[in-house]
Amino acid sequence: MTDNATAVNETPAGLTLEEKASLTSGADFWTTKAIERVGVPSIMMTDGPHGLRKQRGGNDHLGIADSVPATCFPPAAGLGSSFDPELARRVGEALGVESAIGDVAVLLGPGVNIKRSPLCGRNFEYFSEDPIVSGVMGAALVRGIQSTGAGASLKHFAANNQETDRMRVSSDVDPRPLREIYLRGFQRVVEDARPWTVMCAYNRINGVYASENPWLLTRVLREEWGFTGLVVSDWGAVADRVASLKAGLDLEMPSSGGRTDAQVVAAVRDGSLDEDALDTAVARVLDLVRKAQARPAVAGPLDVEAHHALAREAAGRSIVLLKNDGVLPLARDTRVAVIGAFAARPRYQGAGSSLINPTRLDTAIDEIRALSAGEVTYTAGFTLDGTGDAAALRDEAVAAASSAEVAVVFLGLPAAEESEGYDRDHIDLPAAQLRLLDAVVAANPRTVVVLSNGGVVALPFRDRVPAIVEGWLLGQAGGGATADVLFGVVNPSGKLTETIPLRLADTPSYGNFPGESGHVRYGEGLLVGYRWYDARSIEVAYPFGHGLSYTTFRYGDASVSVRAGGDVAVTVPVTNTGQVTGREVVQVYTSLPGSAVQRAPRELKAFASVALEPGETAVAELVVRRADLAYWDVSADRWVVEGGEYVVEVAASSRDVRSAVTVAVTGDDVRLPLTMDSSIGELLAHPVAGPIVRQAMSGMADDMMGGTDAAGASMMAHDEGLRRMLDSFPIGRLTAFPGVPVSREQIEGLIAMANAQG
Ligand code: BGC
Repeated sequence: MTDNATAVNETPAGLTLEEKASLTSGADFWTTKAIERVGVPSIMMTDGPHGLRKQRGGNDHLGIADSVPATCFPPAAGLGSSFDPELARRVGEALGVESAIGDVAVLLGPGVNIKRSPLCGRNFEYFSEDPIVSGVMGAALVRGIQSTGAGASLKHFAANNQETDRMRVSSDVDPRPLREIYLRGFQRVVEDARPWTVMCAYNRINGVYASENPWLLTRVLREEWGFTGLVVSDWGAVADRVASLKAGLDLEMPSSGGRTDAQVVAAVRDGSLDEDALDTAVARVLDLVRKAQARPAVAGPLDVEAHHALAREAAGRSIVLLKNDGVLPLARDTRVAVIGAFAARPRYQGAGSSLINPTRLDTAIDEIRALSAGEVTYTAGFTLDGTGDAAALRDEAVAAASSAEVAVVFLGLPAAEESEGYDRDHIDLPAAQLRLLDAVVAANPRTVVVLSNGGVVALPFRDRVPAIVEGWLLGQAGGGATADVLFGVVNPSGKLTETIPLRLADTPSYGNFPGESGHVRYGEGLLVGYRWYDARSIEVAYPFGHGLSYTTFRYGDASVSVRAGGDVAVTVPVTNTGQVTGREVVQVYTSLPGSAVQRAPRELKAFASVALEPGETAVAELVVRRADLAYWDVSADRWVVEGGEYVVEVAASSRDVRSAVTVAVTGDDVRLPLTMDSSIGELLAHPVAGPIVRQAMSGMADDMMGGTDAAGASMMAHDEGLRRMLDSFPIGRLTAFPGVPVSREQIEGLIAMANAQG
C-alpha cells in the first residue's frame, strides 16, 4: 500500500487539462505521476517477468543498474516446459507477494510472444512456439500474480517475435496467422485472467506501430476481447503520443520529461485530439491507481527460504530429459566427473530488462556434492569467455572423465550470445565446447550432457552420448534442481514447448528472419513450430512435446464427448508402468481432414500434467474449447468453427500419438451474402440458390447436347472438368459471354431472393 494513498476520485473531473495530460505519462522511469492537489498517489510498475527487478539508484530498462535482491524463478522458457498451469500460478503468487513487499503495483510480465524463430534473442522470456501453451501458462501466471492484489502486464502486444530492429521493424503477417498464432495466446490471457494492464510492443504490425494501432489496441483488445484495463507502452515505444492516445494507449512509459504531455495539451486545444479520448485514458490510469491502493498489505520481510524452495521445485519441473539410455539417474555413490564451467558459474537467466539480482544462487557442482555419497571432481573444461588454453583445459577434463564412472558435462550458450535487444545468427554451441565433449566422450562413453540455454541449440552429438538433460535457464535454484534430476530425487517431467530442429535451415522462418529494410515477412504463415515440421515431414532432433521420465507411461483408449456448449471433453486412462513416481504431460491435438481451409497436420488444443505413483492409473480429463477449434475466416472477418469429423489425437509428444478418435463437430452457420462476384461454386453451395442453379445448369447441358443419352454420358465425363472450371467463375461475369441464356437481371433477381430467404 502506498504511503500517501488516499481515495482516488471516480472521474477525472476537477483535473486541469495539463494535469490530465500529465497523468497519462510516467513521472520517471518506473512510476506514474502523483497529483497531490486531488489526492492521486504515484504507483510503481517494474520488471518482470520471472522475478522482481526493483532498481535502487540507477534506472534503465536494459538490466544494467543494480536492483534489490529478489527470487529469480525459472524464466518462461523453463517454466513453460512444465506444461503445468498450477505450478505457474504458484510462481505467479510468489511474484505477487514479492511485488507487494516491494510496494510495486504492477509487475511487467508475463511475455507471451510466440517463438517464431529459434534465433530470437528473447526466446528465454517466452513460453512456446504454440499459442495454447503460451496462453494457458501466461494466464496462470497472471492469475497467481493478481491473486495477491498486485497487477500483471501482459506483453509485448503483439507480433514482437524478434529483437533485430525491434523498435521499428514492421511484422508483416497475414490475418490468419496473426489471429490464430500470434494473437491467440494474448486473447486467452486477456479473456481468462483479466490482466490489469497490457503492454504494447515496440514494433509495427503490417506497417502501423503497435503503440498507435487502433485496430489492435481498441478493436481487437477491447471491443472483441472485452479488455477493460490499461494499455501501457513498452519503455520508449511511443513514436507519436497523440496518435497513440487516439489509438487506445493510455500510459506512456517512461517519462518524456513533459515533452509529449505538452503535445497532448496542444492537440486538445487545437481540436486535433478529442478531449474525451484523454479523459478515457485518465480514467483508466485512475482505475489502475485505485486497484493498486486496494491491495492488502503484505508484511515483509520476504521469506527467502520458502521462495527459494519454490524456485527449486519450479526449476526441477522445467528440466526436459531429452535422451536417456539408462545412465540416469545416477546412484548416489557414483564416481562423477563434473565438467564444464556452467557447473560452477551457472547461466540461469537471460540478459536485459528481466535481469534479476537473486537472493541466493545455487551452483550445480555444490548441489551435486551435497547429494552425492561418492567421489565428485570438477574441471572447467572451457572458459565462458573463450579465453585461456583450450587444449590444457580439455586435457584436464579428459583425465577427470577417464577416472570417473560417469562424466556429467555442462554445456551451454555464453551469456553474450542471447539477450534482449539482439538476435542470434546461428543455433550452434561454441566450437570449443563441442570439441571438449568429443574428447570427453572418447575417454568415457558414459557421458551425460546438461545444457544451459535460453533458446534451442543444435545437438549434433545426440547420437553419441547416452543422456541429454535440457536445463534451459532455470533461475537461482537451477543448480539444486539439476542435481535433483541427475540423482533421481526429482523425476523429470518437463516437455519441449519448442521443437529442437536438426539445422537452422530447417526452421519455418528461415529466409524470412529477421527481414530487411524495416520489414519482416511472416512467410511461413500458419506453419509455425511443429506445424511446419509436420506439414513438410521434416525430421527434427526432438519434437515439440517430447520429454522423458525415469518411469514409463501407458495410455489407454481415449474417448470424447461434446458438451452442451460445444466444448469437446477428452478422457484417457494413463498408467505409470515403471518403478518410480512420475508425471506425464498428456497432450491433445486435433485436425480436420478435408478441411476447406489450410490447416497444420495437428494443432495442440489441450494438455494436462498428471502425477502418478508406480502402478497407478488415472483418467486424465482434458477439455478442447470449441473456440479453440475455430479458424479465422478472412472473408467473414470472424472466428468460424468448421463442421466435420475432427480427429482427436492423445499424445505423449507431437510425434508420439498414443490414441486417436474422431468427433463430429457442428459447424458455425456463417453464410456470407451472395453478390455478383460470388462464384458459381459458392452459389451451388447456397441452400436457396444452389438447387435453382443446379437445375438451370442441367437444363443448359441438355439443350447443348440435344438431349441424346450417349451425348449426355460423354458430357457427364467431360462435365466434371467443366464443373470444376465453372466452380470459381464469378457469376456476374457469365452474362458477358455470347449465348449464355440468362440475363444479368435474372441473376441479380436470384441473388436478391437467395439472400432474402437464406
Ligand atoms: C522491455 C520490456 C520491459 C521494459 C521495462 C523494455 O525494453 O521490452 O519487456 O518491461 O523495457 O524495463
